[in-house]
Amino acid sequence: MKYDLIIEKLSGHDTSGKVGKINKRPGDSLNSGDIIFTIESGKGTIKFTSQYKGILGQLSITEGDIIKKGQVVGNVEGELIEETGTAKPTQFKSGQELKKTAYSFGLAKPTPKNYNVDVAIVGGGPGGYVAAIRAAQGGKKVLIIEENRLGGTCLNYGCIPTKALVSSIDVLEKIKHSESFGIEVGEVKFSLERIINRKNEVVNTLVSGIEHLMNVHEIEYLNGKAEVMDSETLNVKNKLIDATIKFDKLIIATGSKTSIPPIEGADSENILTSKELLELTEVPSSLTIIGGGVIGMEFAFIYNALGSKVNLVEFLPQILNNMDEDVASVIRASAIEKGINILEGAKASSIKASLDGTMIVEINENNQTKYIISEKVAMAVGRKANLEALDSEKLGVELNERRNGIKVDANMRTSNLNIYAIGDITNKIQLAHIASHQGIMAADHINGIENEMSYDLVPSAIFTIPEVGHVGLNEKDACAQNLDYVTGKFPLMANGKAQAMGETEGFVKLIANKDTRKIIGGTIVGVHATDMLSTISNIIASELTIDKAAHVIYAHPTTAESIHEALLSVDGRGIHFA
Ligand code: NAI
Repeated sequence: MKYDLIIEKLSGHDTSGKVGKINKRPGDSLNSGDIIFTIESGKGTIKFTSQYKGILGQLSITEGDIIKKGQVVGNVEGELIEETGTAKPTQFKSGQELKKTAYSFGLAKPTPKNYNVDVAIVGGGPGGYVAAIRAAQGGKKVLIIEENRLGGTCLNYGCIPTKALVSSIDVLEKIKHSESFGIEVGEVKFSLERIINRKNEVVNTLVSGIEHLMNVHEIEYLNGKAEVMDSETLNVKNKLIDATIKFDKLIIATGSKTSIPPIEGADSENILTSKELLELTEVPSSLTIIGGGVIGMEFAFIYNALGSKVNLVEFLPQILNNMDEDVASVIRASAIEKGINILEGAKASSIKASLDGTMIVEINENNQTKYIISEKVAMAVGRKANLEALDSEKLGVELNERRNGIKVDANMRTSNLNIYAIGDITNKIQLAHIASHQGIMAADHINGIENEMSYDLVPSAIFTIPEVGHVGLNEKDACAQNLDYVTGKFPLMANGKAQAMGETEGFVKLIANKDTRKIIGGTIVGVHATDMLSTISNIIASELTIDKAAHVIYAHPTTAESIHEALLSVDGRGIHFA
């Protein structure tokens, strides 16, 4: 089990101290009583000792750092060795309330406790924790409730862990192609277990960071499941407390969960979702992924690079169906070149296990039934709002017309004007950055700042090989809206930096309104695509015309020069591509 290391006590009544000698490093084994580090304060030096037998995971301090009471300084993977109370700092399981002594751990009855807060937030993902910080910045007394770990799906099972895996894959891919850079390496070995451990370290560091931010902003954090008592009261029970929370305002940020489609066998426990794909410690020899959207495509490239024979089944005629065909075509070509078996226009209709344990996926393609046999099958066919998390009827909160999310206005208020909803639970656009922005809008409104949520300029970042970044309108949208538009396109093949990096797949494409010449959309496929994207967002948000936007000097040599070239190429004035 994983435990957080929390500074519970310092010398005397001190509330802060300085980190002295650090005796243990991440990865070191720990026994109960081992001194992890010392803390110096005006009243002397005390030892921060382990109460666990295990391995030190994270330690987010260095010698000389000032640390505060309540601060999370790291974590340990192992078991709690109970000990009688001493004057030493005590450390508790992640998310549990601090208490004075450790020896009653797990035995004491939950203590009743009442809270009266300005803002209660249910859900500690990128919607909830950002809203908590923003509300606290406005001087509100805030309490956040999370039943799992702070950070939600994004940090724990989504965006961040996949990007940690993508980074490991990136190293692997570079090594595979090292000879073309004049570098010869011996036999390449990797351990998925170590890749997953690294991913866990990245996640733990960021989750600890959020816990730290909650402390800094004096946000009360309760770990447990929130139950609705009435439209102004919640209850949270965990091993330590039985909390009754009265709130003035409530923000619902309970997120989404994997949606299981009505495919025979899809609900079997052998079927993987993105969550399990982030935890495998052995690479399956073969993997069939159902769904060629963002999640399916990202994992197809990850497991292909790790050595799985990947089949990807997409029901629609095009993978990444929201993107233009020229974007999908670069990703399709790259996937096929790497050996991923892409089946588009193919509907998975049943999944069965064979006698030898392999899985059989039945697909219908061009009115023909076909079967794919693989060791594992993963589902990536969308996510649905976690509507069961809170009793919306008791809260007086209405669902949207399609009854697949909570109905909200532009201030993120629900039909009960004291209650707000943000993130995937609103089912507007299921993206972490939308949740965070909605969280800021909700908290601003509670803090008396008028702001309205707009979905006009939502960027999307897809971490395939190569990456895709998109913002504003694409050509499909422009056509559907009957807009008179012009495009400018520049291939990365003609970019100096991309050539130097040996990553020349892809392009930058910009769309401008033909009359106003204002940029209305942009897509980048290729190296650094997701990082370059915000330049296009800023061009669109600033309502720049092609001419104004092109009158900017781009640093050389950078991949971002491709944006400049795409601007110039709208009028056929590109310098490095004719
Ligand atoms: P998705 O909705 O993007 O894609 C699911 C795909 O599954 C669709 O293309 C659909 O046609 C296909 N499908 C459905 N039933 C099928 C069947 N029986 N046989 C074959 N194909 C079938 O959903 P996904 O990829 O699971 O992502 C969920 C949400 O998470 C999305 O809103 C996505 O934008 C978001 N997300 C975004 C990320 C990013 O921006 N990098 C990363 C991860 C998730």
